[in-house]
Amino acid sequence: MLRHIWFAMFGGVVFLAVLTVSIGSADDGEEVSGGSMKRFDARTKTCRLLSDQNLIVGYRNFQAVCKSCHNRENEQGAKFLYTESKTRRAWERVFTKMYPVCAKDGSWDRLATEDLLKVQDYLFVNAAGTYDSRCAA
Ligand code: HEC
Repeated sequence: MLRHIWFAMFGGVVFLAVLTVSIGSADDGEEVSGGSMKRFDARTKTCRLLSDQNLIVGYRNFQAVCKSCHNRENEQGAKFLYTESKTRRAWERVFTKMYPVCAKDGSWDRLATEDLLKVQDYLFVNAAGTYDSRCAA
């Protein structure tokens, strides 16, 4: 009897430990105090603070530049894109490798480096697979 209780307790501790580790590693971004997160930017090798201000500017830049072509009814032949079109990793590839034709033909030039980094911050936070029910209002 005593042995059963002991095993049940031990099992619970192991389960909790595994749960904590898996929740802790689910996020690529590192939580900092105040609820905001950080993102390591591979292209510029800088640490980005994902402040509300940066995210708002990123959203506006994405709408004004990227979405001017990547909207549903564009005539530029660009595919419809929104934040959840890609995962964090896929968006990161877009910006570090700069593989899209539009990045190569100068369509991104309206955005200075810092403005482009904010677009990336915004996409990082809102990418596919980042929905967190604990943060839902
Ligand atoms: C002047 C129009 C234009 C602008 C502005 C533009 N794009 Fe594009 N983009 C295109 C076209 C045309 C293609 C090639 C067709 C396609 O794959 O959508 C393309 C391709 C892409 C692709 C490859 C498609 C895919 O799903 O992988 C990505 C990613 C992309 N653009 C992202 C962006 C981002 C991010 C911005 C803003 C920083 C941007 N584009 C701004 C026209 C544009």
